[in-house]
Amino acid sequence: MNILITGATGFIGRHLVQRLQKNHHTIKVVSRNAARASQVLGVAAFDWDYATQDVPAEALHDCEVIINLMGENLGEGRWTNARKHEMYASRILSTRKLVAAAPSTLQAFICASAIGIYPGKGDDLYDESYQVPDHLSFMQTICHDWEQEAARIERSGARRVSIRTGVVLGDGGMLKKILPVFKLGLGGSVGDGLQWLPWIHIDDLVSVYAEAAQNTHFRGSINAVSPNPVRYSQFAAALGKALNRPAFFSVPALILKLTLGEAAALALNSYRIAPSRLLEEFGFKFKFDHLTTALDDLFAKTAH
Ligand SMILES: NC(=O)c1ccc[n+]([C@@H]2O[C@H](COP(=O)([O-])OP(=O)(O)OC[C@H]3O[C@@H](n4cnc5c(N)ncnc54)[C@H](OP(=O)(O)O)[C@@H]3O)[C@@H](O)[C@H]2O)c1
Repeated sequence: MNILITGATGFIGRHLVQRLQKNHHTIKVVSRNAARASQVLGVAAFDWDYATQDVPAEALHDCEVIINLMGENLGEGRWTNARKHEMYASRILSTRKLVAAAPSTLQAFICASAIGIYPGKGDDLYDESYQVPDHLSFMQTICHDWEQEAARIERSGARRVSIRTGVVLGDGGMLKKILPVFKLGLGGSVGDGLQWLPWIHIDDLVSVYAEAAQNTHFRGSINAVSPNPVRYSQFAAALGKALNRPAFFSVPALILKLTLGEAAALALNSYRIAPSRLLEEFGFKFKFDHLTTALDDLFAKTAH
């Protein structure tokens, strides 16, 4: 298939491009820096500044699937008003432009979304049957509006899939940020450690995207999290063990809030999420459904 990917130079995108190439798809990407993207990924790349330009026509020529991953990283420090605007616009405005520019050859629009669409509190288990209420937090608003923009593609008859992604474990994202501290033996929990962390191994997430691109049964919003979420304190202990380091330190919630402001929600919110549709509707088989095997796999590959 001819597949256009946005945000392909990021953590998830790099892995996804490799998998889709292995599966003999033809990949094009759009990027803020096409020369760099083409060099890093080894695929055709086109410059696109979503804020000021339309999607380049060459990128969409004969395109059958769009996979939309682009967006300002939420985990890069404090959420100033300018960054909050960029986090929102780089997802919502870009999605609107991609949907508006979709060619008649398009069969599916696969768009990132996040578990941030759920309330982020307590021990209740949420799945895709959750009804989004009227009053939403900032993260819920981004995810909700992102999914609504993507869903507009359905008017053209194309399939839409929104992948509500949990915390992705691999050689990027959250793990890359906290690993140096854990490797020094200074890692540990945050807040009271009771908050739920809905993780997924990068290989499984890439399989979800690859399947969503090809399998016409995949439609609508789908949770991409492992079937066994853990509490943050369990996660910290398992990571310490996988690295063979102590993980007894704990960062109080107040310190995190003073340091990161609103962005502290990324570590302190509690998301107990089930991948109900993947398991029950699609019979998806996770390669890594337990945290210890996921971490063992990653550290056999990356830590040494
Ligand atoms: N990683 C996770 O744990 C996780 C969890 C839930 C949801 N997600 C979602 O999945 C998507 C991909 O995640 P990721 O971890 O691969 O992200 P990432 O590593 O931060 O990469 C995102 C890519 O988007 C483009 N981008 C970044 N800021 C941009 C901006 N301000 N305007 C336009 N383009 C921008 C960049 O590509 P160019 O530089 O080539 O333009 C970048 O490589 C994101 O939308 C993210 O919200 C990720």
